[in-house]
Amino acid sequence: MKTAAITLLALCMISIFAFSQTKQEPKNKLIIHADSGETAISRHIYGQFSEHLGRGIYEGIWVGENSPIPNTRGIRNDVVAALKKIKIPNVRWPGGCFADEYHWMDGIGPAEQRPKIMNTNWGGVTEDNSFGTHEFMDLCEQLGAEPVICGNIGSGTVKEMSDWVQYLTSAGNTPMAELRKKNGREKPWTVKFWAVGNETWGCGGIMSAAHYADESARYSFFLKNYGGNTLYKIASGGLPEDYNWTETIMKKWSKADGWLQGYMSGYSLHFYTVTDWSKKGSATNFTENEWFATLAKTIQMEELITKHAAVMDKYDPEKRMGLIVDEWGTWFDVEAGTNPSFLYQQNTLRDAMVAAVNFNIFHQHCERVKMANIAQTVNVLQAMILTDKEKMILTPTYHVFDLYKVHQDAAFLLSDLKTEDYERDGKKIPALNVSSSKAQDGSINISLVNVHPDKNIMLECEVRGIKATRVFGKILTAPKLNSHNTFDQPDKVKITDFNKASLSKNGLQIEMPAKSVVVLSVK
Ligand code: AHR
Repeated sequence: MKTAAITLLALCMISIFAFSQTKQEPKNKLIIHADSGETAISRHIYGQFSEHLGRGIYEGIWVGENSPIPNTRGIRNDVVAALKKIKIPNVRWPGGCFADEYHWMDGIGPAEQRPKIMNTNWGGVTEDNSFGTHEFMDLCEQLGAEPVICGNIGSGTVKEMSDWVQYLTSAGNTPMAELRKKNGREKPWTVKFWAVGNETWGCGGIMSAAHYADESARYSFFLKNYGGNTLYKIASGGLPEDYNWTETIMKKWSKADGWLQGYMSGYSLHFYTVTDWSKKGSATNFTENEWFATLAKTIQMEELITKHAAVMDKYDPEKRMGLIVDEWGTWFDVEAGTNPSFLYQQNTLRDAMVAAVNFNIFHQHCERVKMANIAQTVNVLQAMILTDKEKMILTPTYHVFDLYKVHQDAAFLLSDLKTEDYERDGKKIPALNVSSSKAQDGSINISLVNVHPDKNIMLECEVRGIKATRVFGKILTAPKLNSHNTFDQPDKVKITDFNKASLSKNGLQIEMPAKSVVVLSVK
């Protein structure tokens, strides 16, 4: 009897011990190293891309001075106010593929005298050049954003591109400064970012890597710094997985006897989240399988950056050259009844997930990724804003930019994440996705994504290096995977307060709702 009681007691103790062991090993655990923070997350990761495509510039941004839609010198006030709220740091313009058929001199001088051309890339529509260089620079000034100009290498000339730099940035004493003054702008602008062509493997001239490497050198050499304006030149990358292209360009731009510093500062990567280019699928009408496939595809960005960065590291171990992801985002079928060449698509909670996951990836690589530009700002692809004449709505993607703006120029914090998977049809991806940074006031911002469509996940978070005393958060989620905002219901997907994070002994206890993006601020 006595032996049986002792055995029972021993068994009880073993199971209590085993239980406490299980408790100490949470399935999902995040450790944030609040005492790290060597590298800043460049604000330019939150950049935009606005091309002369569909209703992106015309209607979406530019309505002209005589429009009944409230505007400042032709630029929509509602769109500018919305973009200012998310603190967009830069705008890439005029393309895209359009850049390589754009001749900037068509877009200066009196509007009525500007030639009308055909936009051969995007539907053959008439481009009247009413939105040109001065209008773009006015847009940037209204937004408080930096211009990123993509030069024409495909159908342009070295002289044309170098004249554009001179027109924009030289103070005087040059033919182009005189022309600019004649067109009403006395002072030069500051234009740092300059792309030397776009997708030169394709719509930018169908070049080989070796040919482009030489061409980019020739162009770049003649793009000069005027006054205090130091150019940051960006070379065109190859197809997303063309590491050989990266190798060729990097070899050109580095030298055994020293770095050709000042000639090229950035290298571009384009990657769209598309699971099948021949069947892109609807932006709003999709299954859970498609939700999974889109998210599985978008995390390929991690692999692409890692592999391109590895090639860059070989030639540029000091990381002087930035990886510039100047086109990224979702690309679905156009909305029914709209021009197929205008790339107008709706934007759901799924797009918000894609944006948040990509930002977390960019942050993790902030030592190399110095700029990113989502395609595209208004009415095109994964837009921030959709317009219908005088009406405007903000998309779920816009709200992610809003939530994440706290990371701009903040110090990136190292973290370790253990997460369960989200499984679908025998395939799996990590359910949670995270990044964090320290702001100038010392507060720590943690952005978390739960891509699981129907599972709330408990996450234990240890914050090393500080004693957390306060936490508050914001969340973006919605009832359905395809919830989205419409002109009739503009606030179906919006940011609300989040109250499922609390202080614990070592940090925080967080309950991450299914299909949500959360940003926590810890003090
Ligand atoms: O963003 C739409 C197009 O996609 C761009 O014009 C081009 O650069 C890319 O292929």
